[in-house]
Amino acid sequence: MKITISVSKLLGEARRGGEMERVVILVGTETGTAEDVAGEMAEALEGAGVGVEVVDMEDVGPGVFGGGRAVIVCTATHGDGELPENSVGLYEQLVEERPDLGGVAFAVCGLGDSAYPDFCAAGRIWSRTLGELGAEEVIRRYEIDGWPEEEDVEGAREWAGRAVERFRELVRGRG
Ligand SMILES: Cc1cc2nc3c(=O)[nH]c(=O)nc-3n(C[C@H](O)[C@H](O)[C@H](O)COP(=O)(O)O)c2cc1C
Repeated sequence: MKITISVSKLLGEARRGGEMERVVILVGTETGTAEDVAGEMAEALEGAGVGVEVVDMEDVGPGVFGGGRAVIVCTATHGDGELPENSVGLYEQLVEERPDLGGVAFAVCGLGDSAYPDFCAAGRIWSRTLGELGAEEVIRRYEIDGWPEEEDVEGAREWAGRAVERFRELVRGRG
C-alpha cells in the first residue's frame, strides 16, 4: 500500500500550550479505499491548520498511541467481519501487551458494506478495544456503507473536523 505521510509545519507532539497539534490517522485497508478516505480527512484537517500523519497500521506498533496522542482509526472490514490484514499485527500486539492508553483520545471511521452480515465490524472492534485499554472515544463512529460517494467523503471530512474539535476540548479540559 502506498503510504502518505504529511506532517504539518507545527512541530511537537500531540499537544503543546493547551492545543492539540497533531493527529495520527491509522489506516486499516486491503484495497486502498480506507486509505483514500484517510487522505481526504487529512487534507481537510490540514486545510484547517491541523498537523496530520496518515499511517499504515502495518508500519507501527502500540507506541503509536504514546504521549497522549489524538488518533483517528480509519478502517475497512474484511473477511467475515474481520480486521483488514494490514491491521492484524498492531491489534494483536495491543491485545497481548495491553498498554494503558489513558490520555489517548480517539475517533473511528469505519468503511464496510451492509450487504455483509457484520457491517463495519472492524470499526466496532477498534472502538471496544481502545476503550477497554483506557482511551477515550470522543465522537460517535462515522460509517460509510459501500463505495464512498461524494457525500460520504464530504461527510468524513466534516466528521474529522468535529473529532478534532472534541480532541481540543478534551485537551483544554485537562488544562
Ligand atoms: C472479501 C470481502 C469481505 C468483506 N467483508 C465485509 C464485512 O464483513 N463487513 C463489512 O461491513 N464490509 C465488508 N466488506 C466491504 C469492505 O469493507 C468495503 O468494500 C471497504 O470499502 C473496503 O475498503 P478497503 O479498500 O480499504 O479495503 C468486505 C469486502 C470484501 C472484498
